[in-house]
Amino acid sequence: MAEVFGPPVTVALTGASGAQYGLRLIEALVAANREVWVMISKAAHLVIATETEAELPARPERLAETLIERCGAGPGQIRCFGREDWMAPVASGSGASSAMVICPCSTGTLSAVACGASNNLIERAADVALKERRRLILVPRETPLSAIHLEHMLTLTRQGVVVLPAAPGFYHRPATVADMVDFIVARILNQLGIEHRLMPRWGAAPSAE
Ligand SMILES: Cc1cc2nc3c(=O)[nH]c(=O)nc-3n(C[C@H](O)[C@H](O)[C@H](O)COP(=O)(O)O)c2cc1C
Repeated sequence: MAEVFGPPVTVALTGASGAQYGLRLIEALVAANREVWVMISKAAHLVIATETEAELPARPERLAETLIERCGAGPGQIRCFGREDWMAPVASGSGASSAMVICPCSTGTLSAVACGASNNLIERAADVALKERRRLILVPRETPLSAIHLEHMLTLTRQGVVVLPAAPGFYHRPATVADMVDFIVARILNQLGIEHRLMPRWGAAPSAE
């Protein structure tokens, strides 16, 4: 019998630094038994190759196979869509997923989403999430920020988008890069209402384990 997964979450990786955040998010969603729909921009592939050891094929079908193996996902748990795959479910309000996260989010994609450009499938899927009033979370990484970046973030925040900058805290005393990555991924999962054990919530009673 085919496995049943929780409602799909769309994850788009764009060409900002911090590919690890997006890849870890996909892993965490798989571990939470959610179906994951993935889009990776051309620039994101370049960043992934620069920042990680992951070797991810460009073609969506092969990419899905590679991510399924990498994340230990079940058959069909991860689906991938290409830049102009307008027949993909994320391209339409009638087929879109429960929530979308752009992680990391380049300032280019931030700007395109704020303007409703829809020039590629990532931008279109975000536009669909906005028009359907679905959860949309953007994880930008840039520093310093220009007035243009800030205005786009304010525009989107006013539309109900969660702008969650990739700015890990240090109060949990991270010992590794993975700890810092998990800090951000835990924040994203909190926003999605998905249980996780990446790090304890602030003020939570210590576990008995
Ligand atoms: C190694 C590398 C790191 C980059 N880091 C950032 C970054 O942190 N933030 C950002 O907004 N753009 C960054 N860029 C530039 C974007 O990749 C570029 O603007 C691209 O057009 C974004 O396209 P996309 O939004 O379709 O992925 C980086 C590019 C490379 C190659």
